Amino acid sequence: MSPSWGYGITGLTVGQRVFGLTDWARNGSLAEYTAVEARNLAPLPADVDHTVAAALPISGLTAWQGLFDHGRLTTGQTVLIHGAAGSVGSIAVQLSREVGARVIGTGRTTHRDRALALGVDRFLDLQTENLEDAGEVDVVFDVIGGDILDRSAALVRPGGTLVTIALPPKVQPKDGRAVFFVVEPDRVRLADLATRLADGRIKPVIGAVLPLGEAPAAFDPAQHTPGKTIIRVAEDQPGGPS
Ligand SMILES: NC(=O)c1ccc[n+]([C@@H]2O[C@H](COP(=O)([O-])OP(=O)(O)OC[C@H]3O[C@@H](n4cnc5c(N)ncnc54)[C@H](OP(=O)(O)O)[C@@H]3O)[C@@H](O)[C@H]2O)c1
Repeated sequence: MSPSWGYGITGLTVGQRVFGLTDWARNGSLAEYTAVEARNLAPLPADVDHTVAAALPISGLTAWQGLFDHGRLTTGQTVLIHGAAGSVGSIAVQLSREVGARVIGTGRTTHRDRALALGVDRFLDLQTENLEDAGEVDVVFDVIGGDILDRSAALVRPGGTLVTIALPPKVQPKDGRAVFFVVEPDRVRLADLATRLADGRIKPVIGAVLPLGEAPAAFDPAQHTPGKTIIRVAEDQPGGPS
């Protein structure tokens, strides 16, 4: 994507490699060319491939905003991350570890090895273990919703926060906050995340990389691949769309 002119272009130049969130309010970003507000884009380091970078804007910004802006997670606290092996959860695990939090990750039985490799201190198998065995935590980061979200409220310590990206919570922590939010564009934070991607501090979980012509398959629940699905709209070219 190449910025030309408009609101928010300060700091970007024509032809620069950039990446970022497309606007929620517009359809049609699954295409070779798309119009995006320049302020929603961040420079992409030369050594980061567009395919890998494409996994970061939604998952990375959602994880960051959920953990730190809404959850106020800090060093030494305990965070319970549902769906720890998934797209958002896996980045949340890596960012939580970096800040020095103790991380309990949840998921299905088949997710255990990936979650442990990402750095969870403890994996709780939602198919065979009781969620309540997690004990009290400072922050819950939920990506699943439903019964898991409802039951998680009771695990939040006084003063702690239940954060969810699934849907507004019906059950509130007894003496804590409950937050549902939708990810927002943030160039500065995205640039921070790109640095972490470039130096290896975070690695997105990429499940499949498909050409644009196979995009319909990517939306077929029957062909669901764990992790982020990336649609390649063009072959990599210096400064070209990808
Ligand atoms: N509010 C926002 O701003 C925002 C931002 C990003 C995403 N989202 C939403 O958040 C959700 C998660 O996004 P994502 O990209 O991280 O999805 P994802 O890559 O599919 O990750 C979700 C993870 O949770 C696991 N999971 C789901 N239900 C489970 C259950 N009942 N028990 C155990 N594990 C379960 C999934 O396993 P399986 O793959 O085996 O099902 C997967 O590992 C989606 O609904 C997405 O639309 C919201």
